[in-house]
Amino acid sequence: MKMAQTQKWLFFADRFENKKPSSQMSKLDVVIDFIVFLLVSVGYCIEAVHHTLFGHPEKDLNGEIAVITGGGGGLGRLLAMRLVRLGTKVILWDISQEGLDESTKIIESMGGWCKAQIVDISRREEVYKAADEIRSKYGDVTLLFNNAGVLSGRALLDTPDHLIERSFNVNVVAHFWTVKAFLPKMIENNHGHIVTIASMAGHVGIAKLIDYCSSKFAAVGFDEALRLELEVMGIDSVHTTVICPYFIQATGMFDDVNSRWVGTLNSNDVADRIVLAVRRNEKMALIPWYFSFMLAFKYIFPWGCTSGFLRRLVPDATPQHILPSPVTTPSIQKQDEMNFNNNNNINNNNIDKETELIKRMSTAIDGERVL
Ligand SMILES: NC(=O)c1ccc[n+]([C@@H]2O[C@H](COP(=O)([O-])OP(=O)(O)OC[C@H]3O[C@@H](n4cnc5c(N)ncnc54)[C@H](O)[C@@H]3O)[C@@H](O)[C@H]2O)c1
Repeated sequence: MKMAQTQKWLFFADRFENKKPSSQMSKLDVVIDFIVFLLVSVGYCIEAVHHTLFGHPEKDLNGEIAVITGGGGGLGRLLAMRLVRLGTKVILWDISQEGLDESTKIIESMGGWCKAQIVDISRREEVYKAADEIRSKYGDVTLLFNNAGVLSGRALLDTPDHLIERSFNVNVVAHFWTVKAFLPKMIENNHGHIVTIASMAGHVGIAKLIDYCSSKFAAVGFDEALRLELEVMGIDSVHTTVICPYFIQATGMFDDVNSRWVGTLNSNDVADRIVLAVRRNEKMALIPWYFSFMLAFKYIFPWGCTSGFLRRLVPDATPQHILPSPVTTPSIQKQDEMNFNNNNNINNNNIDKETELIKRMSTAIDGERVL
């Protein structure tokens, strides 16, 4: 509680910035502005050291209403299971009815409050309609997890155009629609939290993940710019957090990817870490944490060092469950597009993958620690 008050004081002190255009600022204005900046920065550093030494304050999520996109499987489901344990009401969005049914069944069996809606987040009218329905039936959403994501996993020249568009539409453009749908009420109530599940691939480029990496870089930028915009608006109780995990096991997306030197992450540990980051109002969670050194390394050392490290770390980023595509021919592209269109924009392979995933997730949930 004490530290939450300190956070408020620091936020308040930081408002004493000089907003005059530079042409109208005297030398004295510049000096005072710089001293305020230094003092507030020292305050933030002391606060960070205090948190590290004596623990972070954690907020109560009991009674919050959360929307989790991609809640029909993988990380979305694991997050929902943790949130309901903390007393949060969860509303799951996904394109997979089977996945949503399975998630709802698991959460209800835990005694949690859970609703599910089929929403394709890449379609903004669907997002706005579903958001209106939630508001009228259940109240204002206070936690938004932009979690749904898709992967093509092919070399750029082998990636059909529609899959590139899909990566951007789901991995980042949809965040604009979901945030526009829920942020106004969060601002009005000065209460809310927007969580962007990005990726370590939002900080480093990896071969065969060009559409994925560039959409995740955009998602990281989306979170940072949104946070700054809220701060400029003087809103201190609508928080944003960006989560950047390395490859995760047992969600299906990357669990069989070829990763060396660093082991892939346990999905339950990642879900625990995400909930903790939200409870602590952390701004960015890199998972594992020591990857922050790798990011600093990237900006300090010559490109050859970064490239050599990344090539050894991830020799081939195509998960083995995605069949390597030969060089694209018009007939392959045509077949891909037919599959895509025939299934309300879900590729047939993805439905099979989804079913397989749900089976695997159920096994993981039955066989592993979940909370
Ligand atoms: N798995 C990893 O190794 C890993 C690593 C870093 C970041 N991430 C990110 O974490 C998030 C969750 O990944 P996951 O591993 O649980 O993946 P997943 O494939 O298991 O789950 C993604 C979910 O999103 C849903 N989805 C896909 N398109 C959608 C759409 N248009 N509208 C609504 N829902 C849609 C899918 O049906 C699925 O249930 C993603 O954003 C992913 O990029 C995953």
